[in-house]
Amino acid sequence: MAQRVFSGIQPTGNIHIGNYLGAIKNWVELQHKYDSLFCVVDYHAITVEYESDLMHKRVLELAATIMAAGVDPNKAILFVQSSVPEHTELTWLLTCITSIGSLERMTQFKEKSKRQKGGVFAGLMNYPVLMAADILIYKADLVPVGDDQIQHLELTREICRRFNSMFKEVFPEPQPILTKAARIMALNDPTSKMSKSIEGSYISMDDDDQTIRQKIRRAVTDPGPQGGEMGPGVKNLFTLLEAFGDAADVKQLAEDYKKQSLRYSDLKATVGEAIVEKLAPIRHRQAEILAKPDTLTDILVEGGKKAQKIASETLAEVRDAMGFKMPQK
Ligand code: TYM
Repeated sequence: MAQRVFSGIQPTGNIHIGNYLGAIKNWVELQHKYDSLFCVVDYHAITVEYESDLMHKRVLELAATIMAAGVDPNKAILFVQSSVPEHTELTWLLTCITSIGSLERMTQFKEKSKRQKGGVFAGLMNYPVLMAADILIYKADLVPVGDDQIQHLELTREICRRFNSMFKEVFPEPQPILTKAARIMALNDPTSKMSKSIEGSYISMDDDDQTIRQKIRRAVTDPGPQGGEMGPGVKNLFTLLEAFGDAADVKQLAEDYKKQSLRYSDLKATVGEAIVEKLAPIRHRQAEILAKPDTLTDILVEGGKKAQKIASETLAEVRDAMGFKMPQK
């Protein structure tokens, strides 16, 4: 049987090039090799303050971006988390074998809790259990994510092992797949990661050509090539160039850097153009897909049905293993 891939992304409205390079771009390649499921994880997006009026719009926009980037719903299953309620049922069952201590230790929980002005709700702490359920319910072998999700994936593996040893060997232990661009740094502070919650740190997948160029021009670098190791801002620009541009430009500019003759304005102009060139067609395709919301909705409903078929089979095994024997209607 082909190995299975699962990954998800939150519909938070500011999908950025870090999300694209760390995850979506890789999904496009993986769908040809593996039995793949990609999910818009809307239930994860309600663990912090959010606007319910905008939720549906954001779900559709994100699904359209994923398709515009090259995920083909005839190859991979593309669906929305809330349309497969088995995820939340499994979350409860797994919550009962997850220690509070390990949830409290999660870096993202600690960081996001600090930013919640209106109080921290239990959903934010339980977030990684829902993520574990997303993955385990499809018995996924491989999970392509950015570096910031590795800790959550470790916890998924811990929950997986605990379930298998307490009840029955139901789940395979999922492994992460990281890209070379697994940690894109913030443009305004290259010592932290690019993040949708930090204004000025990211280039959004929706930004127009001028905005992209301008944001790259303003990216924080350093006083100039000094010989030796690159500073984090310059290194980040090279990572972006490797991902979006062509190899000849990377080679040339890296040589200029070594000779200490590289002008950062030239580097930035090349990086800016490379990003514009790759994102503009994705943006246009996204607009075309969004112009037919009924077709898009049909695709997601279909994806949800296919996903649910797999999810309900796993859930039946889990319920049985945990001692719940009542017949399901
Ligand atoms: P989310 O929505 O925050 O991010 C989606 C993906 O983008 C990656 N990413 C980055 N990659 C490189 N550089 C960055 N600066 C950067 N910022 C974000 C993330 O690592 C992620 O792969 N909890 C997940 C969503 C999720 C999930 C899952 C993922 C829910 N269930 C099951 C995999 C499997 C999240 O919040 O991703």
